[in-house]
Parts: sequence; C-alpha cells; structure tokens
Amino acid sequence: MTMAVEAAAPDDRPYSPGLEGVLAGETSLGYVDGANGRLLYRGYPIGELVVKGNYPAVANLLWTDTWEPGYHLPTAPVPAQVIGVLRSLPKTAKPMDALRTAVSAWGAVSNLPWPPTDEQARAITSFSPSALAAFARLRAGLEPIDPDPSLNLVEGFLYQLKGEKPDPGTARALDAYFIVGAEHGFNASTFTARVVTSTRSDIASAVSAAIGTMKGPLHGGAPSEVVDQLAQIQDAEHAEQWVLDTLARGDRLMGFGHRVYRAYDPRAAALRKVAEDMPTRPDWLQKAIDVEDVVLRVLAEKHPDRALKTNVEYYAAPVLMGVGLTPDLFAATFSLARHAGWTAHVLEQAADNRLIRPDVRYIGHSERHLP
Ligand code: ACO
Repeated sequence: MTMAVEAAAPDDRPYSPGLEGVLAGETSLGYVDGANGRLLYRGYPIGELVVKGNYPAVANLLWTDTWEPGYHLPTAPVPAQVIGVLRSLPKTAKPMDALRTAVSAWGAVSNLPWPPTDEQARAITSFSPSALAAFARLRAGLEPIDPDPSLNLVEGFLYQLKGEKPDPGTARALDAYFIVGAEHGFNASTFTARVVTSTRSDIASAVSAAIGTMKGPLHGGAPSEVVDQLAQIQDAEHAEQWVLDTLARGDRLMGFGHRVYRAYDPRAAALRKVAEDMPTRPDWLQKAIDVEDVVLRVLAEKHPDRALKTNVEYYAAPVLMGVGLTPDLFAATFSLARHAGWTAHVLEQAADNRLIRPDVRYIGHSERHLP
C-alpha cells in the first residue's frame, strides 16, 4: 500500500536575515544606543571610562560589576606546550590564526571546569597578549619575552612585543583603544561566544570560536584599510575628488557608517582625542582629520536620508599605527581588547543558561524517494 506524501505546511513565522532587529538575549554588560551615539559599560559612558579608567579596571568592571580604579592585571606566562605550538606555525601565518590556535592549545593544557569563573576570565584575558606578542617575535626570528608582573596588561603586551617598556603616553593610548574595544553588545563574535557557552563548553572554546568569527573582514578588518585609503589621498585639497571617485566606483569609505550608530560613534570621538594627545602620533593624523570633514560632507550630500558618520575604526588606525603596531596586527589586537567583553558574556550566559538553538525555515525539496 502506498501512502500519499503530504505537502509541508507553509512556515510563515517571522524571519529576519542576519537576525537584524531580533532580540536574541538579555545583558547587563554593554548598552549600545545607536540613535543617540551612546555606549555604556555597566551604565558608565565610554568617554568617562577612557578618561578615568584603564583596561584592567574596565575588564574587572565587566566581569564583576565593581569599579576598582587601581585593579592590577598583568599579562600571564605562555605555557611551554603553547610556545611549542607557536614555534611550529609558519612565519607567514596570519596573527589571527596564531592567536586562535594559541587559545585553543591553552585550553588543552588548562583545567577549565564548568561553570566558567571570574578566575578563568582573568586567566585567558591575561594569557592572550603574551601569546600574540610571542608569535610576533617568533615570526621575526626573536625569542619570546617573559611577562613583567609589575606592568599592567597593555604595558606588558607592548613590552613583550617590542622588548622595551613603553613610554607612559604610548601605553596610555593603546590602553584607551583596549577600553573602547572591550565590549559592544551582541556583535557576531560575542554572540558566537555565548552560543558555545550555552552548550556548557569551556571558556577557551568560546574565545577561540569568537576569534575565528572576528577574523572575517566584515567584523574585525577595517582599520588597516583606513590606513591604505588615507595613503591614497595626497592631501586634504585632493580629498573631495578622491572621495567622489571612490564612491563612483561603488567602493566604501572605510571608517564611516555603522549598522547600529546613526549618530557619531562615541568610540571614534574618544579615540580622536587620544590620537591627538599621543606623543608619537603618525604624521598623517592632521590629514585624517581634514579628510574626515570632506567625507562627512560628501556622504551627507549623497545620503541625505541615512546618517553615515565616522566609526571607531577611523581613529583606531592612527592610534594603532602611532603605538608602533604593524597593520597586520590590528585585528588580533582588537581581539585582545574584546577578551574582556567575550569572557564577561561567557559568565553572564553561564549564570542563566539556556541552550541557544534557534529554528530554521526549510526551503528544500518536499519529501521524495530514491528510485
Ligand atoms: N561608504 C560609502 N557608502 C556607504 C558607507 C561607506 N562607508 N556605508 C554605507 N554606505 C551607503 C551604502 O552604499 C548604502 O547606499 P545605497 O542605499 O545607495 O545602496 C547606504 O549607505 C546604506 O548602507 P548599508 O550597507 O545598508 O549600511 P549598514 O549600516 O548596514 O552598513 C557598514 C554598515 C557595513 C559598517 C557600512 O557602513 C560599511 O561598509 N562601512 C565601511 C566599512 C567600515 O568602516 N567598517 C567598520 C564598522 S565599525 C566595526 O565593525 C567595529
């Protein structure tokens, strides 16, 4: 006897491609107020945190909801097995691949029982800068440098990268970049970290998956392209023609526009001030400031109905160049900064966990049978 195959009932539940506008969780960590250009961590405005805080205190705020301005968080040593893994990578490996691999290897040699703890969050956040610095030195034919426990995390990272302690102005500038990069709601990498945690997997698995997500150029790649674009502009007088030509080709102006912000990105405002105060700012900073005015004017003329403003990546570029990082380290350095937010979200997810497992609408063949 044959059974008639029933056609599937149409699935007309709401669907938003890219989950845009979908509430997929609740958080007490960061508030991204795109309409008003506001970013709060645990209620504190990002501008105040940059002026009065440092990265360890901000990370501790995200993990524990307490404000301890003198909180000390040095970088941590890289276990010998992880150094062995980094030595085995080709010198041409991308820093994001090396960092993701180092975090994965660290997870394999660490004891990380469920549920994740503040201590685990601190451990991985202080391990990763040492691992990235070690890889950067190994690929240059240099030996890794042990952490100096008297230095706070960002100073320690620069010391282990370059072999000499940074001057306070340089350390302060990179610390400010780490603060503005620490947390930003349900961005793709943070959401990834929460999905991994929701399965009761460990914090190293969550962070290595988050690094893999941030590696994509739609997420972590813009500041190095800002450097490339500014290099193409001779000076501010030639900027307007360059902007018009770029738009006519259908290309995007890097460092402008944002999915959430309709007002000026508050992180860009904070980093512009940091860049202007840097002891070693790049000589093209003034050109960047002049070009920004031209770009904002042209974008406003082209898109009168859609506010396209400067985003964080525009002024991240001069800060990162000014502290002496090469553009191929920019995305991995952004990942180091985002460790505080990723791990805080891991803790928040674990504290009130429900497996994240959405539905999908099936659009394939109706049921059929092999001949
Ligand atoms: N340059 C030129 N035109 C732009 C730009 C830009 N930077 N951003 C948006 N537009 C235009 C688009 O071409 C589009 O025009 P159309 O309606 O005529 O087709 C319109 O503005 C809307 O663009 P969307 O892509 O829908 O805007 P969305 O807000 O989704 O995009 C994004 C956000 C991806 C950041 C975009 O602005 C962009 O590509 N910017 C450049 C890359 C960049 O700076 N990325 C870093 C973002 S910050 C971060 O990730 C930490």
